[in-house]
Amino acid sequence: MAQINPSILSADFARLAEEAKAVEGADWLHVDVMDNHFVPNLTLGVPIVESLSRATKTPLDCHLMIEDPDRWAPRYVEAGAGSVTFHAEAAAAPVRLAREIRAKGARASMALKPATPIEPYEDLLPELDMLLIMTVEPGFGGQAFLDIMLSKIRRTRELISKHGLELWLQVDGGVSAATIERCAEAGADVFVAGSAVYGAADPAEAVRALRAQADGATASAAWACGH
Ligand code: DX5
Ligand code: ZN
Repeated sequence: MAQINPSILSADFARLAEEAKAVEGADWLHVDVMDNHFVPNLTLGVPIVESLSRATKTPLDCHLMIEDPDRWAPRYVEAGAGSVTFHAEAAAAPVRLAREIRAKGARASMALKPATPIEPYEDLLPELDMLLIMTVEPGFGGQAFLDIMLSKIRRTRELISKHGLELWLQVDGGVSAATIERCAEAGADVFVAGSAVYGAADPAEAVRALRAQADGATASAAWACGH
């Protein structure tokens, strides 16, 4: 079944516990960490992740848009994240880092900006629990979905099948009722949605509707035959 991860970047930061509760049916809560260096925006860090992990039963999916993830990513596992995503463009030693995240007890995930191809990372995929394909330039919520990323999603799904991996394939950026089916059809199975969930009148209903759409599109997708 498709997983839907609402992004709290589009929530009210003064009411994070309530905003987490508003999407309790979600699979994970997506937490965007930005340092104003790797991306031109600044959000939150370890202390807020620590508090949020105590305030919600929904597991935290931390997306680190920061420099020096080799130093910081393990701290987010200690802070309570169930999944930690570092960027391929920022990691000095991605294999060592993924192993460290797993050894500390979280799922290890790596993200690719739109201009970063998947092919150089084919041999690393077994080290990861999830691969995140950015479908906007990272930094801000509410941007338009980049259709040109669909072929990278397809190629990544082919690599996952070719190697028989249990790797989750996440998409993040501009995912909405208008775009989620194309993502699912291309091979994504974990969907981050910020404005499409928190901008909706009923965020919990938006999660259910997005999941139903993704499941419908996956059921008729060639890549999912036999799953
Ligand atoms: C953008 C973040 C996303 C963002 C998505 O850099 O990584 O997680 O919150 O927001 P929407 O779904 O509004 O594009
Ligand atoms: Zn994100």
